[in-house]
Amino acid sequence: MKAIVNKSYGPPSTLQLMEVPKPEPKDNEVLVRVLAASLNKADLFILSGSPFPVRLMAGLFKPSIQILGADVAGIIERVGSKVSQFQVGDAVFGDLSSSGFGGFSEYAVAEESLFAKKPSNLSFEEAASLPMAAVTALQGLRNTGSIAAGESILINGASGGVGNYAIQIAKAFGANVTAVCSTKNREIAKKSGADKVIDYSLIDFTQTEEKYDLILDMVANKSIHEITKILRKNGRYIACAFSAEAMITGPWISLLERKKVKNFLAKTNQADLQFIAKLAEESKLTPNIQQTFTLDDVPEAMEMLGKSGISGKLVITI
Ligand SMILES: NC(=O)c1ccc[n+]([C@@H]2O[C@H](COP(=O)([O-])OP(=O)(O)OC[C@H]3O[C@@H](n4cnc5c(N)ncnc54)[C@H](OP(=O)(O)O)[C@@H]3O)[C@@H](O)[C@H]2O)c1
Repeated sequence: MKAIVNKSYGPPSTLQLMEVPKPEPKDNEVLVRVLAASLNKADLFILSGSPFPVRLMAGLFKPSIQILGADVAGIIERVGSKVSQFQVGDAVFGDLSSSGFGGFSEYAVAEESLFAKKPSNLSFEEAASLPMAAVTALQGLRNTGSIAAGESILINGASGGVGNYAIQIAKAFGANVTAVCSTKNREIAKKSGADKVIDYSLIDFTQTEEKYDLILDMVANKSIHEITKILRKNGRYIACAFSAEAMITGPWISLLERKKVKNFLAKTNQADLQFIAKLAEESKLTPNIQQTFTLDDVPEAMEMLGKSGISGKLVITI
């Protein structure tokens, strides 16, 4: 089968389209004919081996993960003997990041629990754009952020992969959403349902009179002091992009003020994929694809992901 392979840490140009053996499903795994995959920042971190802590998980000197790609959608081609939820021919989508990636490829294997049925109203490309970004937004807002209807929520980095889905999911929970993004992405944020859009090139969201119950941050470019000033009593600040300051000061702020300041790491699970699929089928979550590429264009897509100005997901059609 054809796959995009990375044998050493480096820039996207180190990626190569190669013939590799087709994977075999174990008893509890399914073999999926991948029809679409989407890119996430996690792919870029493993490709470059940077920031350094990535290497503790993905190999100190060379990557143990040789085929990147976490988010996939496709058709089940074979099932292991203990698989009970899926049959050959089922259309599925899922996130392979906890089972060694492998999505930039014609076939991928993983445990059945990492997949859910593809939302019936979405194309494979649209479904592949959802798993990691939408589940991250969901878990950040609901599990760690304890979102509630009627609350005032600010989403920083609202036009990117996670941020765009965060706007839509926060609206589905009945929140009042303020989206922070660049000038050129204002319309996308509005179209996704944001009640108010702040253009960060014109206004610093920490310097207005507004206060928020929950801030979901995909950029982490403000000091925690500035952030806590705009959190209401019992307010929560959830950093999706890692914030060292939040890690250090978070426990003290929780102790001294009635506010929560926390880094958060999403972990995919089937129930949340099914939750996302349901939102999509109810038209409460619409995939936002910036551009599609072919499998040989993965290096070009990775190059684009590394630059600023992303407004949605980059998807590979296979
Ligand atoms: N914690 C987790 O489990 C988890 C899971 C997935 C991703 N992440 C992290 O979350 C972050 C975002 O991921 P993503 O996939 O959404 O990335 P992305 O698609 O590149 O989106 C980032 C967005 O931030 C916007 N941005 C850049 N500078 C900004 C600024 N100063 N103020 C406001 N917005 C700004 C960019 O758009 P414009 O500037 O053009 O508007 C871009 O759309 C990454 O750091 C990623 O590693 C964490």
